[in-house]
Amino acid sequence: MQVKNSTFLVTGGASGLGQGTVRRLARAGANVVIADLNTAAGQAMVDELGADKVVFQSTDVTSAESAQAAVDLAVQRYGGLQGLVNCAGILGASRVLGKEGPHDLALFRRVIEVNLIGTFNMIRLAATAMAQGQPNEEGERGVIVCTASVAAEEGQIGQAAYSASKGGVASMTLPIARELGKHGIRIVSIAPGVFETAMMQAAPTNVRDSLAAQIPFPSRYGRPDEFAQLVQQIAENTYFNGTMIRLDGAIRMGAK
Ligand SMILES: NC(=O)c1ccc[n+]([C@@H]2O[C@H](COP(=O)([O-])OP(=O)(O)OC[C@H]3O[C@@H](n4cnc5c(N)ncnc54)[C@H](O)[C@@H]3O)[C@@H](O)[C@H]2O)c1
Repeated sequence: MQVKNSTFLVTGGASGLGQGTVRRLARAGANVVIADLNTAAGQAMVDELGADKVVFQSTDVTSAESAQAAVDLAVQRYGGLQGLVNCAGILGASRVLGKEGPHDLALFRRVIEVNLIGTFNMIRLAATAMAQGQPNEEGERGVIVCTASVAAEEGQIGQAAYSASKGGVASMTLPIARELGKHGIRIVSIAPGVFETAMMQAAPTNVRDSLAAQIPFPSRYGRPDEFAQLVQQIAENTYFNGTMIRLDGAIRMGAK
């Protein structure tokens, strides 16, 4: 799919990996709808990149109505939707047996709700809009990129909820690709290693240092634009479909 003049909806587009994706797609000539809870940061992206190609919609990915409003805005404003990039997510680290008692069940539910159910909510609504569009010369109507994590495969102590949510994202990628293929819609998940974003900056220094020391090469955190570059490549290369791609400097996270 050609990025230029296609319309992408980016959840979590006000910060971190989503923000990097919005910048790259907009600079490549795409129309972008930023769907995020953070209105001030989302609006700042519109101011930075220009209101003709970028629009912000205050969105909670866990809400059916809120997600539908973001999809509707993309269709009304730009005449259709060709891309969805799911970057909205939360961490919610906790031990199963913590110092203050067992893992809070509400926290576990919340992480699944945002990272897994929120991602699925966006997929079902965006795919509905994509399926109504005109196919390109390859028969393609849309592309969906989800953000899993290397924690889907090697979650650390304290990541039961997060790993479960990202494992769910990884596992649903193939069945969705199989189903949506007949509509000309592809879906790929990216499993980032550790990237320099607000989410990682919020982690304790000992956790950050320990993770950085586990990256063979390049021995640094990933940059949001490196994630965005892969999103663009997935969009442009029609043969990417139904899989999870690690983007991680060869990190294999240890137990802690
Ligand atoms: N940073 C990393 O090292 C890393 C590694 C692996 C996976 N990831 C995943 O990448 C994605 C992006 O993470 P990031 O590091 O850019 O984090 P971030 O905290 O910088 O950005 C996340 C964005 O999601 C938004 N958001 C949170 N809940 C939302 C909701 N219910 N509805 C709409 N928006 C919501 C936040 O407002 C924020 O703007 C997440 O899914 C995260 O789990 C990040």
